[in-house]
Amino acid sequence: MKTIEIKDIKEHLGKEVKLRGWVRNYRKASSKLRFVIFRDGTGDIQAVAFKSDMGEDNFEKVKKLTIESSVELIGIPGKHPQKEGVFEFHIKVVNIIGIAVDYPIGKKEHGPDFLLSQRHLWLRSRRQNAIMKIRHTVYFAICEYLNDKGFYRFDSPILTPNASEGTTTLFEVPYFEEGNAYLSQSGQLYLEAGIMSLGKVYDFGPVFRAEKSKTRKHLTEFWMMDAEAAFVKHEENMKIQEELIRFIIHSVINRNAKELEILERDIEKLKKADAPFKIMTHRQVIDMLKDKGVNIDYKDDFGAAEEEMITEDSEVPIFVDRWPKDIKSFYMKRDPENPDLVLGADLIAPEGFGEIIGGSQREDDHDILLERIKKEGYDLKDYQWFLDLRKYGSVPHSGFGVGLERLIQWMSGVRHIREVIPFPRLINRIYP
Ligand code: 4AD
Ligand code: MG
Repeated sequence: MKTIEIKDIKEHLGKEVKLRGWVRNYRKASSKLRFVIFRDGTGDIQAVAFKSDMGEDNFEKVKKLTIESSVELIGIPGKHPQKEGVFEFHIKVVNIIGIAVDYPIGKKEHGPDFLLSQRHLWLRSRRQNAIMKIRHTVYFAICEYLNDKGFYRFDSPILTPNASEGTTTLFEVPYFEEGNAYLSQSGQLYLEAGIMSLGKVYDFGPVFRAEKSKTRKHLTEFWMMDAEAAFVKHEENMKIQEELIRFIIHSVINRNAKELEILERDIEKLKKADAPFKIMTHRQVIDMLKDKGVNIDYKDDFGAAEEEMITEDSEVPIFVDRWPKDIKSFYMKRDPENPDLVLGADLIAPEGFGEIIGGSQREDDHDILLERIKKEGYDLKDYQWFLDLRKYGSVPHSGFGVGLERLIQWMSGVRHIREVIPFPRLINRIYP
């Protein structure tokens, strides 16, 4: 007899097969009939237990099953009597693997704190399962796109001697006789070394920011994909980002129809975002916000509320381009047409999901970069290697970093970032 997965059930109709998994729920219909909602990771199915089909012993075992008990079921898949395209499973034999005692997550509404403390179990819910499957798609779509475009994977270190995104969000780690190391905020600076060997590279892994704020969009540990390319300038850099994001939208719509339905995601909104993105300068955005009555200045960064307003009238993401240099990172290249600005753009998602990408052309002039590092007050000896890249065959180059969880939030329509990573790390939470 074959052991099969629920996703393949329709290829085995009428044949005796084995399923392995867990009880999501059960319902007692009468003294001779029970329904078990059964799941195995690939899907859910209603299993029907008729006492007359399985005999007394097996029916007694069905009666012992509790929510989240693990079990093997032998039986026959068939079509649901009323629902078109839905299948059910007629149980003949029950092999209990593990009885779950008092599963703590029930049908009643639980608060987020409770669910987060039960994250190791909460992940089994239909909703969390759907989100994790979309995460899987987004992750692989990013790798697929970059691989097809000739980017080499180039892994950057997590323990680093220096900051890439400012010192206020650094996590310090004691590091033997060397003093302190820091957990990486982005692999970008290392990718800049990688392109001088390989041309186009990307990394993908966890990065760390000691974010002091509690928001729906910030984790202290999140996943970033940094991409970097030699000879690519600012405008082309934005083109690559747009193509990548549109490829991801396609992938999610094509591969996760079922999951998007479980999450009640409005797919039309995603489809509409798959059209040419807009570009606005930072200055134009400030003007627009002023028109909307926001009290903001041309030198200012955006807060969460303002970020949401940027795309509130747009179906597609918007690049906010050419920022004042003082509010952006030291490595961004000055705009040759206005040295107070940098050739950097943030990509802001529609529907209030905020910034999903930060990118820029990089400063390739040794002396200007040296000045900017000094101005930040960084210790030059930590950045010597980075300056070397401008001493030995410097070339124009650009790159960007995608916040994986922000992108998944947008694709899946999930309002809080804590649900889109298996084990969220928040300012007030490290367990489980
Ligand atoms: O804009 P950021 O800070 O850019 C960089 O780190 C560049 N070095 C990337 C590069 O050019 N290679 O971060 C990139 C993205 C943001 O746009 C946002 O989507 C996400 O990372 N992000 C966060 N996501 C979750 N929690 C946080 N605390 C985040 N901080 C940034
Ligand atoms: Mg940013």
